[in-house]
Amino acid sequence: MSALVDAFGRPLRNLRLSVTDRCNLRCSYCMPEAEYVWLPKPNVLTFEEIARVVAAFVTLGVDELRLTGGEPLLRADLPVLVRMLAARPGLREIAMTSNGVLLGEHAAALRAAGLQRLTVSLDTLDAATFRLLSRRDDLDRVLAGIDAARAAGFAGLKLDTVVIAGVNDAELPALLDYARGIAAEIRFIEYMDVGGATQWSPEHVVPRARMLELLRRSHGPIRELPRTDSAPAERFVLADGTTFGIIASVTKPFCSTCDRSRLTADGMWFTCLYATHGTDLRALLRDGADDDTLRARLAQVWQARRDRGAEVRAALPDRRALAAAASLRQNPHLEMHTRGG
Ligand code: GTP
Ligand code: 5AD
Ligand code: SF4
Repeated sequence: MSALVDAFGRPLRNLRLSVTDRCNLRCSYCMPEAEYVWLPKPNVLTFEEIARVVAAFVTLGVDELRLTGGEPLLRADLPVLVRMLAARPGLREIAMTSNGVLLGEHAAALRAAGLQRLTVSLDTLDAATFRLLSRRDDLDRVLAGIDAARAAGFAGLKLDTVVIAGVNDAELPALLDYARGIAAEIRFIEYMDVGGATQWSPEHVVPRARMLELLRRSHGPIRELPRTDSAPAERFVLADGTTFGIIASVTKPFCSTCDRSRLTADGMWFTCLYATHGTDLRALLRDGADDDTLRARLAQVWQARRDRGAEVRAALPDRRALAAAASLRQNPHLEMHTRGG
């Protein structure tokens, strides 16, 4: 396998594959608008097209695949895709990030199809806050979905909490207790100024240091664990052995070790969460490019990659939301729900 690296020596290891841009929640940090422009259905890659692109990525070093959305479980027959991808040699891991609403229905089938790991978004344990944050009344379904995931045998379950000042920061201790109770690892995420987060402002961010202070107050001493991989989460441990993570993309960006890229459901490949331009792989596929041409294009783009979006944002003197709603309507590829969180 070729050791493909970008302009800063970062390998291509992790592919986030968005299988749909649709979502059944409207979280205020991601989809705060009343209306959205969706990707045209005919443009969405078929399972066969996805499998072909993934095969090309694997030959270039990708060994971790994460299915994302929008909400990935809104894509019909997802276990069929999981089975196709799991049958492929070279992938060390296939994971999925879901909002949990539909997991009750699909967890067992996904596990049987070969999905190895699951991360579920859980921002609150309070029904009223859930409604306020996501504009839907689905907390019970999410909690039932998490139970179904455990019952289906998913080990190493993770929970993702986007922390917003004044909205759910008071719940950090309760969320940590909930995660401990179900043997899941929770990760508290700083609210990011990505596309989609049109309501973002620095005042809404709860910095990593503040989160640690809140958790020390509720749970006592916290020790930082040494880093073992390039994942965005820093990991911590409580005195009783409970581990949790913090993803500090705003106050402590991790671009220098970033080995990930993202593919939208319609085949646009972005080499950074903050990238404004992508590579149209759908056009290549549908114009009849052979595997060598596809691989060569991927390699060429990755070798030229100089992205360090979160670091560039962190250096801005007056940081505001990345994109206005009007520009997102013109270019839905900039949306977080289109590029997969
Ligand atoms: P594991 O730790 O391997 O389970 O995966 P992960 O952290 O990639 O998974 P997940 O989908 O749960 O991502 C967690 C969150 O980290 C995302 O929702 C984003 O908020 C943030 N994140 C993921 N990828 C990136 C990235 O490329 N750059 C930045 N700045 N943040 C990211
Ligand atoms: N800030 C931080 N994380 C976000 N996500 C979506 N929008 C944001 C944001 N503005 C993440 C959440 C969700 C995942 C799909 O994307 O963690 O769980
Ligand atoms: Fe919420 Fe994820 Fe849907 Fe965005 S894509 S609205 S974060 S569930």
